[in-house]
Formats: sequence, C-alpha cells, structure tokens
Amino acid sequence: MTTTTLALIILGVILAQVVIVMLVILHRRKREFQKLDVSKDSSAVVSMPIPSSAKSFSSGSGWEGYREFSVQRRKFEDNKQSICSFYLLPLDGEPLPLYKAGQFLTFKLFIVDPLSNIPKTIVRCYSLSDAPQPDYYRITVKRVLAPAGKPDLPPGLSSAFFHDQLQVGSQVLVKAPSGHFHLMENEHLPIVLIGGGIGITPMLSIINTVLEQRLKTEVWLYYGIRNGDEHIMKALLQALAKAHDNFHLHVCYSAPNESDIEGVDFQHNSRVNLSLLRATLKLMHYQFYVCGPKPMMESLVPGLEDWGVNSDDIFYESFGPATLSKHKKTISAISSEPPINITFSQTGKSILWDPTADSLLEFAEANDIEVESGCRAGSCGSCQTAIQAGEVDYNQEPDADVLAGHCLLCISKPKNNLTLAL
Ligand SMILES: Cc1cc2nc3c(=O)[nH]c(=O)nc-3n(C[C@H](O)[C@H](O)[C@H](O)COP(=O)(O)OP(=O)(O)OC[C@H]3O[C@@H](n4cnc5c(N)ncnc54)[C@H](O)[C@@H]3O)c2cc1C
Ligand code: FES
Repeated sequence: MTTTTLALIILGVILAQVVIVMLVILHRRKREFQKLDVSKDSSAVVSMPIPSSAKSFSSGSGWEGYREFSVQRRKFEDNKQSICSFYLLPLDGEPLPLYKAGQFLTFKLFIVDPLSNIPKTIVRCYSLSDAPQPDYYRITVKRVLAPAGKPDLPPGLSSAFFHDQLQVGSQVLVKAPSGHFHLMENEHLPIVLIGGGIGITPMLSIINTVLEQRLKTEVWLYYGIRNGDEHIMKALLQALAKAHDNFHLHVCYSAPNESDIEGVDFQHNSRVNLSLLRATLKLMHYQFYVCGPKPMMESLVPGLEDWGVNSDDIFYESFGPATLSKHKKTISAISSEPPINITFSQTGKSILWDPTADSLLEFAEANDIEVESGCRAGSCGSCQTAIQAGEVDYNQEPDADVLAGHCLLCISKPKNNLTLAL
C-alpha cells in the first residue's frame, strides 16, 4: 500500500466519523425540538414553560450581519389560518444570544416580484413572540392582503412569502434581535400591555418572560381584536391568567361574531380605548407598552399623556409608518415655513420639498430617486442615508441605531435645506 493510499484511507475514516457525529447531533436537536410540540391543538398551552434548562445562552450580545436559520416548525394560531408562528433554529447549531422581551428580528428575503416576475431582495422586521430561549426564536406572522377595494394590487410580499414559501426545512437570513421597544427589566413598576391585532406579538414575549421568570411584576394585558376569528393564543392566555394572580387579562372584541360569548371568549365588547383603561385600572404608577394599528396608536399614545401618564412611562412600537398625533402639531408648523430645497448629490437632482409628503423616503421615491427600504418604520436601518448638509426632524424615535451624520429617510422630514448622499 502506498503512502498516498494510506493517507486517503485515514482521511476517509476521519470524514466518516465527522459525518456520524454531525448526524447524531442533528438527531438529538430534532428530538429536543419536537418536545416543544406538546399538543397538536393550536390553541392549547404549548409554549409555557419550555424546558431549556440544560442549555445556556451565547455570551455575546448578537452577531454581525445576517445569520442563516432554518424553519423547524410552523403553527397556525387562528381559526382562519392567516396568522402563523415560525420556529427558527440557527443552522450553525450554536446557542443564541439573550434578547430583551419585545425586540424584533430583521429578515432578508429573496422573493420573486409577483407583478414583474423579477427576483428581488426585501427586508422586513418581525417581533419575537416568545420569551428568550437559547435554542430557537419564534416569530408570528399575519398574512397581509391587498387593501380593501384594490384587488389588482399584490398581497403583502413578505407575509405571503412566509405563509406560502417557507416550509419546514426552508432557510432564511436573519439579523440579530434589536429594537428599543422592550421590557424595562430593572424597573419593577406594574405594567400595562396594550396589543391591537398582530401587535400582540411583542406583548406575548413580555408576558411569557415575566411569568416564566416568576417575576412578581403585576401585568395587565388589553388585547384588541375584531372577534374570535382573529384571537390568537386564546387558551394559552386564559390558562396563564388562571394560573398567575399577577396577570390580568382583558380581551376586547370590537365586532364579535354571533358565536363569540362575552365573559367567556372576551371581556369587553369595545375597542381598547382610554375610557376602558380608566374604568378598569386602579390609580397607580404604571408603565404602558403599546403596539397596534395606526389609528389605535394615534389615539391611545397621546390619550395616555392627556390622562396624565408621564411620557417616560409610555413605550410604543409601530409595525408600519405611523405619525403619532402628538407630533402632528410640529409637522403643520413646519409646513408654514419657507420652501425647503432637497438636493440629491449623487443623482444631481435638486427639488423643492413637498410638505404633504409623509417622509423623505416617500418624497425621494415620488421623484424617482432610488432608495433602499425595508420596514418603512425606522426599525431595519435599510434606508439609512448620509446627510451632507442640513438637518432632519424625526416623526418618531428611530428603532434602528443611526450612524452619526446619517438619518433614516422613512421616518424623517427636512428641517431646512438638505443635501443627501443619494
Ligand atoms: C418592528 C416591527 C415588528 C413587526 N412585527 C410583526 C409581527 O410580529 N408580526 C407581523 O405579522 N408583522 C410584523 N411587522 C410588520 C411586518 O414587518 C411587515 O410590514 C408586514 O408583514 C407586511 O409586509 P409585507 O411584505 O407582507 O407587505 P408589503 O409588501 O409591504 O405590502 C403592504 C401592503 O401594501 C399593499 N401594496 C402592495 N403594492 C402596493 C401599491 N403599489 N400601492 C399601495 N399598496 C400596495 C399590499 O397589498 C399590502 O396590503 C413588524 C414590523 C416592524 C417594523
Ligand atoms: S426602511 Fe427600515 S429603517 Fe427605514
């Protein structure tokens, strides 16, 4: 036998051993993950508590750029199968970093544009919907349809991709958890969580975290939906409220179905509004966390301040562009200012600012300036652009970290003449 043949045999044996070890690890991880599927009933208590005591979190605070994850499990959460949870495991098998309950993940997705049939990349954010676990992330995605009366428009690109394309075993690129909307863990004030529609997802993460860690924090949840068709994690939330004296559940249906029973399926036949909060909350010092559709945010956040809640005790997240009415005053003041010129230095265009535009991103797009964008809500950082001269005003606090001398176009407007590196 030659030395080369011997070396090849040794290499082959080593490779075979590596493959066997990897298969054993993969098999174990699969079995561990299957333990999470406590029940096939989508409404049963499935995610509390999750046994992860044997594993620990990664010591780092995150990772740079995008990391590959695979879908290990999908689970519909509502009667109409329009809201689906995705359980994601890192492909590298390494433990995940701890995140703060309420934070979100940013995804880069490769899709085919339904109108042009051309492949393209989109970026979207989804809140983590469970308490932090060292071995998986869970997000819960609502399918977004074309707006009412506009059937010619394509449905939501990312949500359709998640629902229709991402099957068990599919892979996705994910940025590390981020976001400034999260449970303030060091402050032990009672907390009031207000989740409208799919805005319940970060609240689920906060509730699971507080109750799993057996924190004594008093938690009120006001969950606003139209009716039982949209009600997700119903059995879980009811079981938690039964099991924990410090968790107070208020489910509000604004348009209950005939089969929905007040006092059983829901507590209040109304939207979540200020009069309900005033009627059901004792006068105390609370921290409020709000996430929901634009009209709910625009009425509740300023409403809480008018009620006397300190703005430092109100935390909110919007899942899309939202201009809270407390900021609208500033905007109308700006529109009476002298004309503002926006210069796009790389394209060589100089255009008069349109005060009716909601953001610099909208303005740039309307003038055929190519801009990268994703969430359009100040969360993903895709539209970050260098400011070469001038200043901007933000419609809301940026969630993404912004580099010095840059701005997020999707949530900003010019304060004065502006030159952007576009
Ligand atoms: C921090 C953060 C956390 C979030 N967490 C969650 C979460 O937990 N769960 C969740 O489900 N979502 C969440 N979202 C929202 C999510 O990121 C997406 O915005 C949502 O899924 C819609 O994206 P899409 O690609 O499906 O829709 P898009 O493709 O962005 O379309 C949105 C709407 O526009 C319509 N439309 C398409 N073309 C046009 C046109 N030419 N003119 C007018 N309208 C048009 C579509 O029909 C659709 O109704 C979060 C967002 C943020 C910023
Ligand atoms: S598009 Fe996401 S931060 Fe502007």
